[in-house]
Amino acid sequence: MSEAANLTVMNHPLIQHKVSILRDKDTTVRDFRALCMEISMLMAFEAMRDLPLEEVVVETPVAPAKAYKLSGKKLALVGILRAGLIMVDGILNLVPNARVGHIGLYRDPKTLEPVEYYNKLPADISERDVFLLDPMLATGGSAAAAISILKDIGAKSIKLLCIIGAPEGILAVHSKHPDVEIILAAQDERLNDHGYIVPGLGDAGDRIYGTR
Ligand code: PRP
Ligand code: URA
Repeated sequence: MSEAANLTVMNHPLIQHKVSILRDKDTTVRDFRALCMEISMLMAFEAMRDLPLEEVVVETPVAPAKAYKLSGKKLALVGILRAGLIMVDGILNLVPNARVGHIGLYRDPKTLEPVEYYNKLPADISERDVFLLDPMLATGGSAAAAISILKDIGAKSIKLLCIIGAPEGILAVHSKHPDVEIILAAQDERLNDHGYIVPGLGDAGDRIYGTR
């Protein structure tokens, strides 16, 4: 794992291996979806490393055991539509009791500016640790807008998990929201003239849903 201020890039071998297959243009829609879910779970496993625990006593069939359960604030998983949905599905396998929110944003293909079309978020989000999920952090416009929406309704603790991020997106999010930790599976080189991450993996939504 390599860490800079509020940026973590996960370099676990399993994550790197799976991201390589994800990038491959010949990976099928079915495999692409499965890999997105697996990578998201591995990322969440690490991103949730500092969740607080409380000591409890559990009666095993043999004797009382000193054990630990999650305590502290509850969790909210917020997916940016469409592509973030697959990360929500993956991470719910680990934390099935988490509340789920959705923010609908699409990137205008000409201006590359995010356009909001939907949001439905847990009412008590201010009391939850929020994990904002989107596979791609390109210009950072969508993630920064989603973070502003979350903060406007009171969210205070937000981590952004993206599978691939470009330096431009990291800078944009950190300059608007320096308090938000960004966690990536891979940091790529740059954006191309169309705002796509290079080398990236193409259009994540299209590859997940087979729409191109
Ligand atoms: C993609 C991706 C991000 C956004 C990233 O979504 O899933 O939400 O682009 O780009 P940005 O960092 O420059 O804002 P897209 O707008 O293609 O919508 P979709 O998921 O509905 O296909
Ligand atoms: N959105 C994507 O899905 N891919 C990119 O490379 C950039 C934005």
